Amino acid sequence: AFRNKLDFFAAAKVSSSFPPVDLPEIAFAGRSNVGKSSLLNALTRQWGVVRTSDKPGHTQTINFFNLGKKLSLVDLPGYGFAYAKEEVKDAWEELVQEYVSTRVGLKRVCLLIDTKWGMKPRDHELIDLMERSETNYQIVLTKTDVVFPIDVARRAMQIENTLKSNKSLVQPVMMVSSQTGAGIRCLRTVLSKLSRL
Ligand code: GTP
Ligand code: MG
Repeated sequence: AFRNKLDFFAAAKVSSSFPPVDLPEIAFAGRSNVGKSSLLNALTRQWGVVRTSDKPGHTQTINFFNLGKKLSLVDLPGYGFAYAKEEVKDAWEELVQEYVSTRVGLKRVCLLIDTKWGMKPRDHELIDLMERSETNYQIVLTKTDVVFPIDVARRAMQIENTLKSNKSLVQPVMMVSSQTGAGIRCLRTVLSKLSRL
């Protein structure tokens, strides 16, 4: 699936403008700046379609992309962005929650966690929501290039332990660096299995 051309398909600020579902869908969620947009670029090897930024809070709409007629990839706006206005923050969060808990055709949410910082309360809130709505999700540790390998392994173990009795969690925790490409092929293989044949 990831060999197909990546095309921007739709952007939504409200749930009424979510496009119709006709492909299996994989969404990328996580705190602002965790590397969601960068991971989409690395997975598809198509830079420039999904925009990334040094400024947290860059992605402010839910952005839908198509990989040929195989897979829909969704870049979610980040949460926990410290200097966003309170009401803006709530609106994004509500939108993400609504998307995650109601979207038919959503096969998997990749919840990205910064390896250096680990899980925060907002991540747990989203996890609780996905558990309640029985949305399958997996944890992807990002930016593994900025910490020592031993700390990456420790972080993965810590998260696996914390979440070990969660029902909708798909194991194992995966580890990637969009910068160096580490772990990207492995994640691509896992996600390809969810795409249309
Ligand atoms: P929002 O759209 O604000 O929610 O952020 P995002 O999660 O889409 O993050 P984005 O991909 O825009 O990346 C944020 C910053 O982290 C950028 O400066 C990236 O260059 C950097 N970054 C992303 N992935 C990696 C990585 O694997 N390693 C390192 N060192 N930096 C990364
Ligand atoms: Mg982004």
